[in-house]
Amino acid sequence: MSDIVSAAAHLRNNALVAFPTETVYGLGANACSEEAVLKIFAAKGRPSDNPLIVHVPDLGSANFFLETVDPLSLLLADTFWPGPLTLVLRVKPGLLAPQVTAGLDTVGVRVPDHPVALALLRECRLPLAAPSANKSGSPSPTTAQHVRDDYKTGGGPEMVLDGGPCRVGLESTVIRVVDNKIHILRPGAVSKEHLLKVPGVTEDMIIDGSGAIRNSTTDGPPRAPGMKYRHYAPIAPVKLVDTWEEVSIQSGDFIIAFDDVVIALMDSAKRVSLGSDPTDLEIASMRLFAALRQADTEQARRVLIDVRFDHTHGIGAALWNRISKAGSLN
Ligand code: TXA
Ligand code: MG
Repeated sequence: MSDIVSAAAHLRNNALVAFPTETVYGLGANACSEEAVLKIFAAKGRPSDNPLIVHVPDLGSANFFLETVDPLSLLLADTFWPGPLTLVLRVKPGLLAPQVTAGLDTVGVRVPDHPVALALLRECRLPLAAPSANKSGSPSPTTAQHVRDDYKTGGGPEMVLDGGPCRVGLESTVIRVVDNKIHILRPGAVSKEHLLKVPGVTEDMIIDGSGAIRNSTTDGPPRAPGMKYRHYAPIAPVKLVDTWEEVSIQSGDFIIAFDDVVIALMDSAKRVSLGSDPTDLEIASMRLFAALRQADTEQARRVLIDVRFDHTHGIGAALWNRISKAGSLN
């Protein structure tokens, strides 16, 4: 039996399967089964009021659990799927396990752009609820080994499908369209600049909701990612570095930086490269979470992260969002 066929059989039996996507590895379960979905929360140690993203092989496969989709969301789905975009859409009651939506009247939906994920979704013929496959408290996994590491003491998925390292490395952009406005709830590889290339989309239609979300203290289910929950930060204190000339490297420092710094340091500290070019952030995005995990396994005393890049444009906004969360104490 191929891995995909046996993984699909596990999913139909309401077991968990970790699978690769282009963003990060997901911890998948049958989104229509309460029994299956509860296993996700138990395995991750995830708060039960944090809703899950549902993965489908195409929009048509999601129609049975969705209310009528608004035209702008349809256009975005058509433009960016398969791809690193999650759309928050109105959900029909009673079809998905209630824990998937955490009591909201919407659900996050995504068509991942990864051959293994798509093959699995087509084979199992189930919508798959899948948060990032890390245990709560670890960065999202970007390799199969990261998933195995998080569950080495047990309680993890029945199976981990290995699709190699994730191409994007940061979780999907989460968007909600309300009254023809695009609210970016979590920045990702589908950036504001990408959205502005969509016919009919203008600057005033795009609202950056990610900052507001972080500052919100509302009770009840989070309306958007990251609103209530502590995000991953390495065990050691993190320093975000803009001017390396002002930093004195200490023993036990772990450096995550672009090549000029990595090369200048020679062997004076443990270090991971974010790539050679701070204007081309795809490599940096792909490597960030693995580097943060490595800082912990190397028992760094301090983690220095290079932030000499444009925080406002393209995937730089998503990279900055994750780095600033890793560097904040709450
Ligand atoms: O790239 C990704 O999105 C990965 C891969 C596996 O697809 N998944 C992922 O899932 O990052 P997770 O659970 O780690 O993050 C999903 C975020 C959560 O923070 C959740 O609050 C938000 O999406 N979310 C889910 N449903 C929502 C909804 N109805 N309204 C607002 N936010 C929602
Ligand atoms: Mg996550």
